[in-house]
Amino acid sequence: MSVKQPLNHYRRFSIAPMLEWTDRHYRYFARLMSSQTLLYTEMVTTGAILFGKGDYLSYNEEEHPLALQLGGSDPLALAQCAKIAAERGYDEVNLNVGCPSDRVQNGRFGACLMAEPQLVADCVKAMQDVVDIPVTVKTRIGIDEQDSYPFLTDFIDTVSATGCDTFIIHARKAWLNGLSPKENREIPPLDYPRVYQLKQDYSALNISINGGVKTFDDMATHLEHLDGVMVGREAYQNPYMLAEVDQRLYGMEKAVLSRDAVVDLMLPYIERHLQQGGRLNHITRHMTGLYQGVAGGRRWRRYLSENAHKAGADCEVVLAARASIQQA
Ligand SMILES: Cc1cc2nc3c(=O)[nH]c(=O)nc-3n(C[C@H](O)[C@H](O)[C@H](O)COP(=O)(O)O)c2cc1C
Repeated sequence: MSVKQPLNHYRRFSIAPMLEWTDRHYRYFARLMSSQTLLYTEMVTTGAILFGKGDYLSYNEEEHPLALQLGGSDPLALAQCAKIAAERGYDEVNLNVGCPSDRVQNGRFGACLMAEPQLVADCVKAMQDVVDIPVTVKTRIGIDEQDSYPFLTDFIDTVSATGCDTFIIHARKAWLNGLSPKENREIPPLDYPRVYQLKQDYSALNISINGGVKTFDDMATHLEHLDGVMVGREAYQNPYMLAEVDQRLYGMEKAVLSRDAVVDLMLPYIERHLQQGGRLNHITRHMTGLYQGVAGGRRWRRYLSENAHKAGADCEVVLAARASIQQA
């Protein structure tokens, strides 16, 4: 996909950054179903980019519009990484101020940074100074006992003073101690009205809401109040929902791809990956939810889970998994 519109156009619907889930294979798969969705990478730490051995920034050209999510809290390192991201062609750099995992807190980044708005502002400013692409922030509505509306607006005031005008708000707070990252996505209650209030009070900012959004009806409601909706788990676990995003959220008039057509479109991509020495399940692990809700869809999931990791597994496995759906 090439980016033909201003990036804000694509913010109406985005797929959340998710570690281990939104890698380049998932993003390619998602892009086949929706040309308009703004895609986010998994969080990549500045340490991995600057000192790691692998290439954590590779992606397929088809993935645009594509945002890189960074994890870090050192303005200099973040600026270096933002510059690399812009050079590599990313459309946006996003700073993670929402992840509550212990590993992340030890590195003093993620959700704990909400307590240090000036540091976040310094980080954002340092990145803005070296790139022309938007620098955005994904955060929560609070952390621990610091969950009042003024706490949130103080954070937004300080960070937006840099000129940062795009925020994605996960509409629940994070407990930094005692809850696992998974629990922190489920236990603190969602507070959508608080995010709506934020948009009312900061109408010039572009604000997307995130957390617990599953249906197009939910999205329509949020979009009455806000600029965008970011969906995480539902877009991964029930990926076929993406096949209707362009029509239902962007008003495009085009046929909805069938699930089988999505599989057909994935086959040449899978073939290329295998030829380059990759394994089938690197890709198919992201596709197991494609037939969710379809009679026989469990057989697709099971066949892939049992066979795609085997040595030499190729596109035949995918075709056999699809054929298994029809078996009575
Ligand atoms: C497996 C998994 C990994 C995640 N990794 C990240 C991450 O790297 N960066 C981030 O900002 N949020 C991460 N999140 C949180 C999501 O981006 C999102 O905020 C959260 O899942 C709530 O949205 P949802 O209810 O639509 O899933 C992750 C969530 C999941 C389920």
